[in-house]
Amino acid sequence: MFYRPDHGHGLPHNPFKAIVAPRPIAWISTQNQSGISNLAPYSFFNAVADDPPQIVFGSNGTKSDQIRGKDTLANIRETGVFCVNIVSEALKDAMNKTSFAHEKDVDEFEVAGLSPVPCQTIDCDRVFESPANLECKVSQIIELEGKANFLTIATVTGVHLKDDFITKGLFELGLFKPLSRLGYRDYAIVQEPFSIAPPRP
Ligand SMILES: Cc1cc2nc3c(=O)[nH]c(=O)nc-3n(C[C@H](O)[C@H](O)[C@H](O)COP(=O)(O)O)c2cc1C
Repeated sequence: MFYRPDHGHGLPHNPFKAIVAPRPIAWISTQNQSGISNLAPYSFFNAVADDPPQIVFGSNGTKSDQIRGKDTLANIRETGVFCVNIVSEALKDAMNKTSFAHEKDVDEFEVAGLSPVPCQTIDCDRVFESPANLECKVSQIIELEGKANFLTIATVTGVHLKDDFITKGLFELGLFKPLSRLGYRDYAIVQEPFSIAPPRP
């Protein structure tokens, strides 16, 4: 089949997110100006450079108690910082709880029973239970085509890795099994990584 997105796909559900899959999940912690924490998952997320390390994520739509965007974006506009917490298989249910549209002053660390610990380079809490955390400072927020679509670009200023998952100097994804987002309501975990040698000339 072929479809033009502006003409509709003709399927019961939009397949777009099932095509661009799997996507890593940025479980983003922020704080508002009063110091109340917020935590929510974003899978329009990826790394776009590694020297210095830079990441992007997309926020789509506006929450009923916000003006332009969701709580995460509102807090980032106020503070200029956020932390990306990586979701392991063991954290999937906690992550899911934090995706509900709680009121803006609800602390989702409490909702999901997670342990907030202060970041080192930014004024924000991170998820202690996560296998890795990326402390981020915003460089740009770009308004995209469509209704309330925003792309945030940020530089990673601090990286936490759980020592339990470092073996012989390598961060072992197979030990914590990162959760990824597919289309519809589907997820996948990475549990059998393998290596491919680069091609020889
Ligand atoms: C796995 C997962 C990935 C998600 N990815 C996105 C995303 O990339 N962009 C987005 O706007 N919402 C995404 N959502 C929905 C938000 O998590 C949801 O709207 C949440 O309530 C936003 O919280 P906030 O207002 O505290 O930022 C995702 C939800 C789930 C469960």
